[in-house]
Amino acid sequence: MKILVTGGAGFIGANFLNLLVPRHPEHVFVNLDTLTYAANLGSLEGIAKADNYRLEVVDIVDFEAVDGVFTKHQPDLVVHFAAESHVDRSISGPRAFIKSNIEGTFNLLEAARKHWSDGKGLFHHVSTDEVYGSLGDTGMFVETTRYDPSSPYSASKAASDHLVRSYARTFGMRTRITNCSNNYGPLQFPEKLIPLMVLNAVDGKPLPVYGEGLNVRDWLYVGDHCEAIWKVIGEGADGETYNIGGNNEVRNIDVVTEICSIVADLTGKTKGELEGLITYVKDRPGHDLRYAIDATKIRNELSWEPTETFETGLRKTIKWYLDNPAWIEQVRTGEYRNWIEKNYQDRG
Ligand code: NAD
Ligand code: TYD
Repeated sequence: MKILVTGGAGFIGANFLNLLVPRHPEHVFVNLDTLTYAANLGSLEGIAKADNYRLEVVDIVDFEAVDGVFTKHQPDLVVHFAAESHVDRSISGPRAFIKSNIEGTFNLLEAARKHWSDGKGLFHHVSTDEVYGSLGDTGMFVETTRYDPSSPYSASKAASDHLVRSYARTFGMRTRITNCSNNYGPLQFPEKLIPLMVLNAVDGKPLPVYGEGLNVRDWLYVGDHCEAIWKVIGEGADGETYNIGGNNEVRNIDVVTEICSIVADLTGKTKGELEGLITYVKDRPGHDLRYAIDATKIRNELSWEPTETFETGLRKTIKWYLDNPAWIEQVRTGEYRNWIEKNYQDRG
């Protein structure tokens, strides 16, 4: 099979390729990525020279270029990860989200429609539970929960999900959608909660908790997510949606104190010293209170279960960041420093 993986130089896409390229020499994996600030080719060093791996540096907003990749590689399967993915950036600059997440998905669907006239190709769209909006203290998201996105990021992902479904209904395209909860693990760009807090704790910098730290996220280890996507591709049904969650609901403040505890354990700093770095800062506008995924469908229909608990996955993740200073140096570019300055200076 020829598999076009979009966004394969980002966090989840790189974990997906690192897992599957060596495991499946019988498939060719083409990574289509425009290499935004969030991408890092250093994340793919282990597979860059593999016989069954190719890289195409292409922007999905450019239809002609996407069409060219389809003509050249003739993929049978698209696994669509490419997106602008950070909620805070979607608040300070939403335009790129509309372009990449909505127009980019539309371009991929159009190219697939043109090249898959035999109806055989499969379009797997990777989405988020944030399309369902915010939960109160109770309840969980199921696949039929009404869409109610809060941020420009989640609204753009919601729009892309609707486009994918429309291509299934209108053009008979074979599509599948997975909506997952917050991922964490190796290779995540340190603007997201967990790697940001880990690196700041290691450097003795403030740990900026939005609002009162009472928002809840359902944490999913990235390796478990990638296995789930591969299972849906192999065993799922066309036209279906599957929710993927880690069954790990944790309040942000508890995530941060747990990070302090593990970093202390692994570095010889004290937990008290690290917890002293916790700083409550101005909340995110439109901040969703709680996300929680009910993953009964994928568990019952495809026998998928997460293998990591939050405790085991978090320790593994922190160890990875401590063991990979070269990767961290690569991503801490001028652009990263500018973002940190811009996002946190007004939250004081
Ligand atoms: P990321 O920001 O780490 O990586 C995104 C990748 O997409 C980067 O390599 C970037 O260069 C590429 N990209 C962005 N715009 C592009 C464009 N116009 N053309 C080509 N490539 C482009 O994101 P991630 O965390 O790996 O997320 C991957 C997917 O999973 C996204 O669709 C995201 O919405 C979804 N998702 C992520 C999470 C999470 O917790 N990280 C949770 C649910 C869903
Ligand atoms: P994030 O990792 O940005 O993921 P998402 O917004 O997609 O859930 O944030 C996770 C949670 O952590 C979210 O409730 C916002 C909060 N947060 C902080 O408290 N401080 C921070 O510096 C960041 C980046 C996030």
